[in-house]
Amino acid sequence: MTEQRIALVTGANQGIGYALVEELAQRMNPEDLVLLTGRNPERVAAAAARVEGKARVEGRVLDVTDGDAVRRLAAELGAVDIVVSNAVGPLEPGVAPVEQVDEFVDVANLGAQYMLRAFGPILRPGGRLIVVASSLGTLEQLPEHLWGRLDQVSLEDVEKVVEEWRTAVHDGTAQAQGWPEWINLPSKVAQVAAVRAVAAERRERDLAENTLVASVCPGLVDTRASRPWFEDFSQAKSPADAVVPIADLILADVDPGLYGELIRDGAVVAWKPSTSR
Ligand SMILES: NC(=O)c1ccc[n+]([C@@H]2O[C@H](COP(=O)([O-])OP(=O)(O)OC[C@H]3O[C@@H](n4cnc5c(N)ncnc54)[C@H](OP(=O)(O)O)[C@@H]3O)[C@@H](O)[C@H]2O)c1
Repeated sequence: MTEQRIALVTGANQGIGYALVEELAQRMNPEDLVLLTGRNPERVAAAAARVEGKARVEGRVLDVTDGDAVRRLAAELGAVDIVVSNAVGPLEPGVAPVEQVDEFVDVANLGAQYMLRAFGPILRPGGRLIVVASSLGTLEQLPEHLWGRLDQVSLEDVEKVVEEWRTAVHDGTAQAQGWPEWINLPSKVAQVAAVRAVAAERRERDLAENTLVASVCPGLVDTRASRPWFEDFSQAKSPADAVVPIADLILADVDPGLYGELIRDGAVVAWKPSTSR
């Protein structure tokens, strides 16, 4: 008999998170458990009831902005095999960054940081710790003078930079400092930087144990989060199609060349432009 594996996905009651739960549930074994988590009890229960798959799927309420709740769930589970930090909050075009930055950063950045800190230590050998970021999460999205703030730094440093940027958005100095106005951009670069920081610390042991820490880009996917920002969805993937390469990555043996990197469709998205390496 194979041992039970536990997978957990945040922000999974709709969009990419939901599709990933469904894909994992279809491709994992009947004795495995996939935890579909989200912030709202009714939406979580309804989504969990909809999933069709081989593995058992359970809905769990987890608001990723609540660091205590994230740590409590990690303590309760004790050990996990697959963790996907995917949650994102709403962002509307035409609404001032200062009015949206707090909720957005709390979910996307603090949420991912809490997940990395709480679930990294309880990942079983052979585990997967994945943050759903974006191809926009590369240094190229920032002016060069800001790269050193997020390149080859610790998770603690990333957390500080996120708070400094948030403060700069509030006091109106963010753009003068060079931060892009679209808050999705610094947020995604900081998510990828956080993953790189965690990966740098555990790379050797993880590779010896077939464990993967990485960020992924799903591509343009037709979901609530993307709809307000793009007009042409003719090239967009459905959530179900977008999660196939992510599940492939999660369920395959670890390719050391992908470890710690931002991965899109199985290939590394360069963190820095090649001329500056
Ligand atoms: N869609 C794209 O084209 C695209 C492209 C690149 C990267 N991504 C990334 O892919 C990930 C998933 O995005 P998506 O497009 O699937 O977004 P989505 O459809 O808007 O889904 C976001 C999910 O996050 C949940 N969430 C919001 N706040 C939360 C909180 N405090 N705690 C826990 N869950 C919370 C939402 O729950 P509620 O339903 O309760 O609000 C929802 O289930 C994000 O990291 C996004 O940046 C998406």
